[in-house]
Amino acid sequence: MHARTASTSRLPITSDADLAWVRQHVRQAAAEAGFNLVQQTKLVTATSELARNTLVHGGGGHMEATPLREGVARGLRLSFVDSGPGIRDPEQAMTDGYSTGGGLGMGLSGAKRLVQEFTLESSPGHGTTVTITDWVSGVPSPRTGAP
Ligand SMILES: Nc1ncnc2c1ncn2[C@@H]1O[C@H](COP(=O)(O)OP(=O)(O)O)[C@@H](O)[C@H]1O
Ligand SMILES: [Mg+2]
Repeated sequence: MHARTASTSRLPITSDADLAWVRQHVRQAAAEAGFNLVQQTKLVTATSELARNTLVHGGGGHMEATPLREGVARGLRLSFVDSGPGIRDPEQAMTDGYSTGGGLGMGLSGAKRLVQEFTLESSPGHGTTVTITDWVSGVPSPRTGAP
């Protein structure tokens, strides 16, 4: 069954300033979806790594953020899209410590560990799309619920 999707937001990733907006948008969208602070921070951290890859390795692109709702479940899906050089060997790129850019090589692998669903689609010469999806777990915070 497909998740029913609300409206998708599309944010450019073409500069360091854009990275800050993208992080801020994800923090806000995650809070609105009902993610707790720890879950929000995991999503923002993964976003930070993936959006930076879009900018640095992909030559810029955009993020699509879609709030998800499936029955009572709430979630958030984020796609990082570029039309850059692509990734020839995605499995190698996902390896801890692998970097073609002199980085730490922990961005992709780290982001994957922070979220529930992670997909990387890339074709050399045509670009890269990384999509992460997270669902709200646990019960609503007592501070916002009934006493
Ligand atoms: N959007 C992208 N476009 C092209 N190559 C990418 C992209 N994202 C990641 N890569 C490749 O995967 C490698 C690993 O990425 P990552 O784990 O974030 O490490 P780092 O960014 O520190 O190099 C990068 O060095 C790069 O070769
Ligand atoms: Mg990186």
